[in-house]
Amino acid sequence: MQDLAIIVLAAGKGTRMKSALPKVMHRAAGRSLIGHVLHAAKALSPAAAVIVVAPDMDAVVAEARRVLPEARAAVQAERLGTGHAVAMARPALEGFAGTVLVLYGDVPLISAATLEALVKTAGQGLAVLGFEAANPHGYGRLLQDAGGNVAAIREELDASPQQELIKLCNSGIIAISGELLWRLLPQLGNGNAKGEYYLTDIVELAGKAGTPCRLAVCPESEVAGVNDRVQLAAIEAALQAAYRRRHMLNGVGLAAPDTVYFSADTVIGEDVTIAPNVVFGPGVVIEAGAEILSFCHIEGARIAAGARIGPFARLRPGAVIGAEAHIGNFVEVKQAEIGAGAKANHLSYIGDARVGAGSNIGAGTITCNYDGFEKHRTDIGDHVFVGSNTALVAPVKLGDGANVAAGSVVTRDVPANALAIARAGLDIRPGWAARFRELKAARKAAKKKG
Ligand code: UD1
Ligand code: CA
Repeated sequence: MQDLAIIVLAAGKGTRMKSALPKVMHRAAGRSLIGHVLHAAKALSPAAAVIVVAPDMDAVVAEARRVLPEARAAVQAERLGTGHAVAMARPALEGFAGTVLVLYGDVPLISAATLEALVKTAGQGLAVLGFEAANPHGYGRLLQDAGGNVAAIREELDASPQQELIKLCNSGIIAISGELLWRLLPQLGNGNAKGEYYLTDIVELAGKAGTPCRLAVCPESEVAGVNDRVQLAAIEAALQAAYRRRHMLNGVGLAAPDTVYFSADTVIGEDVTIAPNVVFGPGVVIEAGAEILSFCHIEGARIAAGARIGPFARLRPGAVIGAEAHIGNFVEVKQAEIGAGAKANHLSYIGDARVGAGSNIGAGTITCNYDGFEKHRTDIGDHVFVGSNTALVAPVKLGDGANVAAGSVVTRDVPANALAIARAGLDIRPGWAARFRELKAARKAAKKKG
């Protein structure tokens, strides 16, 4: 939408979260609350965006810019109401004549489709997004005129007993022509129960000025807000339910969907199967036909077609797993490319490394990537065989086709097709164990007698 600007109100600190973090920075499905709002808004391609924050909320602005790099910040120094908060955004939108969409940073489930419908409904005038509340307590009520337009919004504290019975409530989200908004905003008063400048009063002002406010309606679930951690958990649950359903309908096999946790940005191809109890952090892409076994934690990783991960694997950011590769139990991979068909099946740490195609990483292999100050790379070529319990002290290179004997500590590069073996010599003493047992047994018997 060409002529659209968004204003996101995020000045609330969220005291009921009992957190050092601003409320809108809390995460659900791996994405901040304000991130969810902005992703929905981004689908409408707004020409401008302003985030209204309280002082000392630079982190919120930075987070917003991760989604909308052009977003501007407006600081509301005093919490004087939603109308006042929108007024703070005005200088950042100087000269903007299109439609302004006002969103709340703590209402994360709103969909792009609903926002688009609201903006269309507003046309050249204004529209509010309403919903039928199961329990309207605490919400502003929408007072309709005979034609079904919204004549006024009455906050609960200011509502009459009859008005309190109304179940059609205000989501707070509004679309309004910039011209109308800037003309009417200075006329808002604060003569209400809270002594705040309510943005909602603009509806009545617009009606009196000859522009009736239209109504768009959405399901209550889309405008659920977050005030405390119980509500945050409810948002998480709603998102997970939606993502599980979406992935299954896209061809992903989930045997126990309720035990698998996705991030908002998880991308999964067809015929990927995911066993029970798997968690996906942000930034995961899985290609068709890969298999994720139980109890894996996967974040910032790319998994190619036909790979098999887990059970009990941990893929950290920068893990790139090649086609048909196997990453098995208690294997951790970080900032490492695992080549096609390579295998690390048991108990390994592979960090800051490359493992070439078809290589086999034995149980207990560790890339010693950190010297206490810096990280170093391990480069393992194609078809390398690394025996069990090997320490690869980075920086180090194993050439194609090299073979490392079990138990080795490798501190120098190994040429292609060479054997590296670093172990203390093995001493075998025939009959020693039998003699040892006899001696011990005799001593024990003598002690008992005495
Ligand atoms: C608001 C609406 C109410 C609606 C409800 C939906 C008004 C006057 N009322 O009520 O009709 O039913 O939301 O949840 O708008 N904010 C600021 N600066 C301020 C005040 C608020 O940025 O000075 C932000 C808050 O951080 C929040 C949003 O605006 O994101 C709503 O403010 P809040 O005080 O929670 O309004 P409600 O009383 O819930
Ligand atoms: Ca609220």
